[in-house]
Amino acid sequence: MIRLFYVSTAHETVDQDMVDRIAAQAEQKNTEHEITGALAYNGRAFGQILEGDEDRVLTLLDVIANDNRHAGLVEVGRINITERAFYDWGMQRIKKPNFSDLMALMLD
Ligand SMILES: Cc1cc2nc3c(=O)[nH]c(=O)nc-3n(C[C@H](O)[C@H](O)[C@H](O)COP(=O)(O)O)c2cc1C
Repeated sequence: MIRLFYVSTAHETVDQDMVDRIAAQAEQKNTEHEITGALAYNGRAFGQILEGDEDRVLTLLDVIANDNRHAGLVEVGRINITERAFYDWGMQRIKKPNFSDLMALMLD
């Protein structure tokens, strides 16, 4: 399995309600694909952790990268993992984002 962390710039029309909808839809779809992670939005930028089977995560990343609700996606890190950090979550919505906490998960 891999854990991947990216950041991107939200489209100007994005608001908290839209992020809630993205996270709710992601929670459902990710659970089907055994993908877990966390989604943080700070009013301007997204930070997202995706965990799971490498092929599945990279396929999803491709879909997400082409989503016009954000732009300028930059992959910050990718590591191999044997255990998930977000095993209870298809996609945990981080309400008070602290991107450095997410970044710290890329170091183990
Ligand atoms: C910042 C951001 C994060 C997203 N994260 C996920 C995700 O974790 N899982 C997911 O299925 N879709 C995610 N999406 C939505 C996908 O880009 C895409 O709209 C969705 O997977 C399409 O689903 P559909 O083909 O069933 O309509 C995200 C979108 C954005 C803008």
